[in-house]
Amino acid sequence: MIVSNETVAPLYAGTLRKALEAHFPRVLLVTLPDGEEYKDWVNLQLVFDALLQNECDRNTTLFALGGGVVGDMAGFAAACYMRGVPFVQVPTTLLAQVDSSVGGKTAINHPLGKNMVGAFYQPLRVLCDLDVLQTLPSRELGAGLAEVIKYGPIADMVFLDWLEVNMDALLARDPVALAYAVRRSCEIKAAVVSQDERESGLRAILNFGHTFGHAIEAGLGYGQWLHGEGVGCGMVMAAHLSQALGMVDEPFVARLTKLIKRAGLPVLGPKLSHEDNAGRYLELMRVDKKAQAGEIRFVVISAPGTATVRTAPDALVRDVIDRCCASGA
Ligand code: NAD
Ligand code: GLY
Repeated sequence: MIVSNETVAPLYAGTLRKALEAHFPRVLLVTLPDGEEYKDWVNLQLVFDALLQNECDRNTTLFALGGGVVGDMAGFAAACYMRGVPFVQVPTTLLAQVDSSVGGKTAINHPLGKNMVGAFYQPLRVLCDLDVLQTLPSRELGAGLAEVIKYGPIADMVFLDWLEVNMDALLARDPVALAYAVRRSCEIKAAVVSQDERESGLRAILNFGHTFGHAIEAGLGYGQWLHGEGVGCGMVMAAHLSQALGMVDEPFVARLTKLIKRAGLPVLGPKLSHEDNAGRYLELMRVDKKAQAGEIRFVVISAPGTATVRTAPDALVRDVIDRCCASGA
């Protein structure tokens, strides 16, 4: 069964279906609505409905054809259906190719927090066809670049150098540049996940920028800012926090901010409350999965190319939020 959405299915489900029909006796398609706001129980149920209505047994393989939303939902459905059926990721956004399709995290959102209900469930295979990125809207390309940029400060400053040189080529969707960025991102992610699949420690560094970013996504309402936009801006905030903790210097923060801006991403956080904006961020960040006993744990850059997870005093975090957020409405 191909799981896709109403945008991607008309573009690519026919090609995938044709390829699969050469190998499988029956190929079905379930089409979900398009958008982060549909990554929930109600729409996950559509996948189970289709599987059961078509009497699919436990040998059924799910193919996730789409971006991270489809990948996370199809992966979670595969983890649950008959207690687990095989699945394959066919990521069609840059974000999904460099991050969400690799490493086995699957989830849906809850109104109180993003990706709060899910499972670790590895795909049998991840198939990245770079050609599909040519139809991706520019805003989505930028969102994917946020997750690409992330790998530099947390793991590989040589890659950050490469990104600075090649950002224009990536924005122009140069196939050679895209191929290198996807490959290097997957190499870094695989190296981290293979050491800590269930995120008992190291894997959390892949969430650099995400604690602030998830607060932005949830605070504005899912679907207002793209996930990658939240991560881009969140990385700027997390870099400022790293500086405030004495771990990196101002030129490092300025360099990272400049690259994120070049990717077309927002670098100034939105106001989430007119009364107590920093307080609202803190409230939202307390439901982050890394939080322990109500204490927020941030991924910070301990030195360029290395990240760690730590707590920070509320007053310091408030100061960072105040400095990094738009002053207007
Ligand atoms: P998305 O899945 O919403 O896709 C973005 C948009 O692009 C959608 O409108 C989609 O229909 C469209 N689209 C996809 N491929 C296309 C193509 N080739 N041509 C034209 N349009 C296309 O968003 P995303 O950025 O891919 O993924 C974000 C999601 O991924 C979030 O829910 C996030 O939580 C999740 N995520 C998961 C992990 C993980 O490890 N599991 C990691 C990072 C992000
Ligand atoms: N995207 C973060 C992770 O896979 O752990």
